Amino acid sequence: MSAVILAFDTSCDDTSCAILGSNVQSNVVISQNIIHEQYGGIMPEMAARTHFENIDKATQLAFEQANCCIKDITHIAVTIGPGLLPSLLVGVSFAKGLVYRYNLPLIPINHIEGHIFASFIEKDIEFPFIVLIVSGAHTHLYLVEGIGRYTLLGKTLDDAVGEAYDKVARILGLGYPGGPIIDKLSKNGKADSFKIPKGLSKKNTLNFSFSGVKTYVKNLVEKSPTLSKTFVCDVAASFQRSCVEILCEKTIMALKKYNINNLVLAGGVSANSLLREKMSELSQHLGFKLLLPPLSLCTDNALMIAKAASFKINAKFDLNSIDANPSLTL
Ligand code: KG4
Ligand code: ZN
Repeated sequence: MSAVILAFDTSCDDTSCAILGSNVQSNVVISQNIIHEQYGGIMPEMAARTHFENIDKATQLAFEQANCCIKDITHIAVTIGPGLLPSLLVGVSFAKGLVYRYNLPLIPINHIEGHIFASFIEKDIEFPFIVLIVSGAHTHLYLVEGIGRYTLLGKTLDDAVGEAYDKVARILGLGYPGGPIIDKLSKNGKADSFKIPKGLSKKNTLNFSFSGVKTYVKNLVEKSPTLSKTFVCDVAASFQRSCVEILCEKTIMALKKYNINNLVLAGGVSANSLLREKMSELSQHLGFKLLLPPLSLCTDNALMIAKAASFKINAKFDLNSIDANPSLTL
């Protein structure tokens, strides 16, 4: 019998449930953006309460979309970390409840591993590959030599790039999450209006730094008499170019240093239009293979958790030792 995995992700502010089998697939994401928008960021306790309210509905919708029922499920998978502890606890407790009730095996998944394999839902890429994980909490470069074989090559020393997008959006008086808004406004701005510095550029390191970029924008805004539409669009475009250029520079450095020909992008910021465009150009120009996640699977979702779990269906896990771990590493 082939596996049919029911998966949950409640690591941050999206309540997601997905089903993945050879003939069935669904992916339900209930966003909390409207709730957190008014605060310009995520309120952890409120996020957990909203997960609690929505997880049952997300599960029902996932079964409806996949046109199957609990009797068809062979495995349950859940994100155990990293993420916000109150949020993670909702998903882990809910998944464990189903595991006890229906006597199914539980597969614990690292949220970052989920992001890495999101692109694999549509297409495979050969190992080894380098993955650039860019999200609200991560800006990490890993060498991936197989399932579970991950070597950290570089990471942000301060803010994650998605966090920088969200903070810059708040400074500019825009909504939450900032990434998609800045991405859109950039299209109406001139990227050479402001020379926004690129953290750790031209330095012999695969680490990143984004706190300086954010401070630079803060100073620009404080000095500007008004936040005109043109000013906001020009800052957005200049900021976006600075971020994308440094992400490309370090990623190419990693591919060359480790002599790797396959690149995977992962995480919410991999939805960014300029990052996708520049990486695609570089892939053609330099001749490496590029795997971009479909736009719907860049940000948090449970289908990527189900995909990561599909590689582990034969592994045995001790149910009692599975727990939420907000600072879980790969
Ligand atoms: O992976 P994700 O959904 O959640 C985390 O695990 O953090 O990523 C969310 C992040 C947010 O910071 C959001 O602003 C950013 O991804 N993001 C984008 C875009 N879409 C989402 N950043 C830049 N451009 C986008 N189009
Ligand atoms: Zn994520």
